[in-house]
Amino acid sequence: MNNISVDHLTGIKDLTSEDIQLIFKTADSFKEVINRPIKKVPTLRDITIANIFFENSTRTRLSFELAEKRLSADVVNFSASGSSVKKGETLIDTVNNILSMKVDMVVMRHSSPGAAEFLSKKVNARVINAGDGTHEHPTQALLDAFSIREKLGTVEGKKVVIVGDILHSRVALSNIYCLQKLGAEVMVCGPTTLIPKYIADLGVKVSHNLIEALEWCDVANILRIQLERQDIKYFPSLREYSQQFGLNKEILNSLSKEIVVMHPGPINRGVEITSDVADSKQSIILQQVENGVAIRMAVIYLLASKIER
Ligand code: CP
Repeated sequence: MNNISVDHLTGIKDLTSEDIQLIFKTADSFKEVINRPIKKVPTLRDITIANIFFENSTRTRLSFELAEKRLSADVVNFSASGSSVKKGETLIDTVNNILSMKVDMVVMRHSSPGAAEFLSKKVNARVINAGDGTHEHPTQALLDAFSIREKLGTVEGKKVVIVGDILHSRVALSNIYCLQKLGAEVMVCGPTTLIPKYIADLGVKVSHNLIEALEWCDVANILRIQLERQDIKYFPSLREYSQQFGLNKEILNSLSKEIVVMHPGPINRGVEITSDVADSKQSIILQQVENGVAIRMAVIYLLASKIER
């Protein structure tokens, strides 16, 4: 199969396992390109892409921009702060104004779940979801699974635990869909208050005991507590959270096998993970970031190939 089955990437839920394998195969080629002395290909010289970010970002935003530039696309960047959104302009008006400048593809981060899908139905451009509130973050899940495949040779049959604030995490939901489509087993671990009740319906295991979860897994993906999305207190204090669910070197060394440690970033060092674990040999956090560029090049390339030119 050489074509992706979707016209937009709004969520992993819409992808087939063949789509994901195609994205990985394409990303393998682009990873080779970005490790060459000249890290660029002329493939998308005729394409213009707008990155529109209504929420803060470091990794995703830089990674998309770099991916677009490595493919030789023209790139425009928009962030809500400092824009006319602050004067009351709507999402659709904002995007239509950008599109009237002949933009072919929109990469959007927005605080509202479903915003990317809504946009994809309203505009005549390919849409990529760069994170929509607590819903999905598809390219993060793809780069996470790609990094597991790179480290362990395959995702199929591996056991992955996602630890932390599952309730507010778009990374968790996209990871669950992606890992399951690739044949991995998934567990979530965290305080009862931060694990949504519907999660068991997705076919994942649930644990509230960090050591038990880590003993079960091959890979632990540690998530940040999203204080900015929490309007009530879900646990007594960050110190207490850290004591029960924080991953430190003592715990890592006490396990009966060596596990792989991941984190999508941004890290709150000393809360969900200590520095000696984040910076250890078992951590692939920076490889995840590196792989993000190749994965985003692959997604952009495959969606651009469906644009009539
Ligand atoms: N992982 C991730 O989405 O990071 P940013 O919020 O910095 O983009």
